[in-house]
Amino acid sequence: MSNTYYREQPVSPSFDRAPACPFDPAPEVTALRAEQPIARLAAPEGAPGVWLVTGYGLVRQILADPRFSSRYETQYYPLMGYLPPAPTGDLTGMDAPEHTRFRKMLAGKFTVRRMNLLTERITEITRERLDAMERQGPPADLVEVFAQPVPALMICELLGVPYEDREQFQTSTRTLSDAEPDAQYAAFAELGEYLRTLALAKRANPTDDLLSDLATGSDLTDEELGGVAAFLLGAGLDTTANMLALGTFALLRDPAQLAALRDDPGLAAGAVEELLRHLSIAGTGMRGVLEDVELGGRQLKAGDTVILAINAANRDPAKFADPDELDLRRPATGHLAFGHGIHQCLGQQLARVEMRVAFPALLTRFPTLRLAVPAEEVPVRTDPSQIHGVRSLPVTWDRG
Ligand code: HEM
Repeated sequence: MSNTYYREQPVSPSFDRAPACPFDPAPEVTALRAEQPIARLAAPEGAPGVWLVTGYGLVRQILADPRFSSRYETQYYPLMGYLPPAPTGDLTGMDAPEHTRFRKMLAGKFTVRRMNLLTERITEITRERLDAMERQGPPADLVEVFAQPVPALMICELLGVPYEDREQFQTSTRTLSDAEPDAQYAAFAELGEYLRTLALAKRANPTDDLLSDLATGSDLTDEELGGVAAFLLGAGLDTTANMLALGTFALLRDPAQLAALRDDPGLAAGAVEELLRHLSIAGTGMRGVLEDVELGGRQLKAGDTVILAINAANRDPAKFADPDELDLRRPATGHLAFGHGIHQCLGQQLARVEMRVAFPALLTRFPTLRLAVPAEEVPVRTDPSQIHGVRSLPVTWDRG
């Protein structure tokens, strides 16, 4: 069998992560990167091509190329066919010029002033949550007491959710990230409805928050306004919560790195970038191919779909030396954990500030923090289409 012939065979790698390495991408996906950084997935006769892209350079190139569409209806799933369009207000399912309209409107509201105000609140919210954790005492589920409430409360600040609604908001968001599918669906519908009503109330009575700015200073329809609010909740909550929880888990498994971060607060900014790279919790992205294009020696046809393995790309040795090592002192610049191109994460500065404050604060407040169960018993999320993370993180510590 010639090498060329072998390399052109469709592949069907398992997307399962190795149970012993919950921080690493699926081994069969990563293994493709050296041989076939863009590989055709096996599919039934006559189905559009579905390509798995694992090389850093190719993933980055596709994310910046308008011939690859973000619109869900251009993306083909072997078992489902082409997807339905994204819900109203979901920027990740739009292309230019629709996307440009929403993006400009939102980018103008994530102002430096607002981010500075939020930074002050992040420090306060983090302290309050750590106080609550201390009062409650060990053991605790870090997801429930810290990793989930901190970003949920930050979203409340960003959107201007009134204080009296926050407890209910918290309960519903908790259900949203970890419950049976039916309960999740119900919580999502309830939160969406709540945010739509809140957005409309802000039109009449604006306060000093992003939702009020959008309600009064944009040409969004009521439906679009509610949709954007719900989308921001989805985009900013599960992501940051899982980075905080999985990031803490990774640090607890690596005492030397943990001590380095705890003892040197100056390391926080770089450490957060490395955790983002290493964990790549938004593990895969999808794009639909709009016109025939040659890429990495492969002929892609209009109507094909590419699956971008961002997690494998962020472990590409062509970009990062010793990529599988978690090394908080390395320059992780250029990682793709927030995406790249026109859809690059709009909330990345907020997420960064949350993590730069939260990790060191947690580790200095609880210097003896450790897992309360064997690492293999920590329930890891396994569905590759979900944001990667843990369902709970049982921890304990010595009382001071
Ligand atoms: C660690 C936390 C986060 C991670 C890893 C993350 C990751 C990402 C990624 C990978 C994308 C690109 C999706 C694509 O190309 O299709 C994205 C888009 C986006 N994110 Fe984040 N995100 C985080 C936190 C946040 C926060 C806190 C917010 C705001 C509250 C936010 C708001 C958005 C928005 C609005 C978009 C859509 C941008 C667009 O399509 O133009 N994200 N995020």
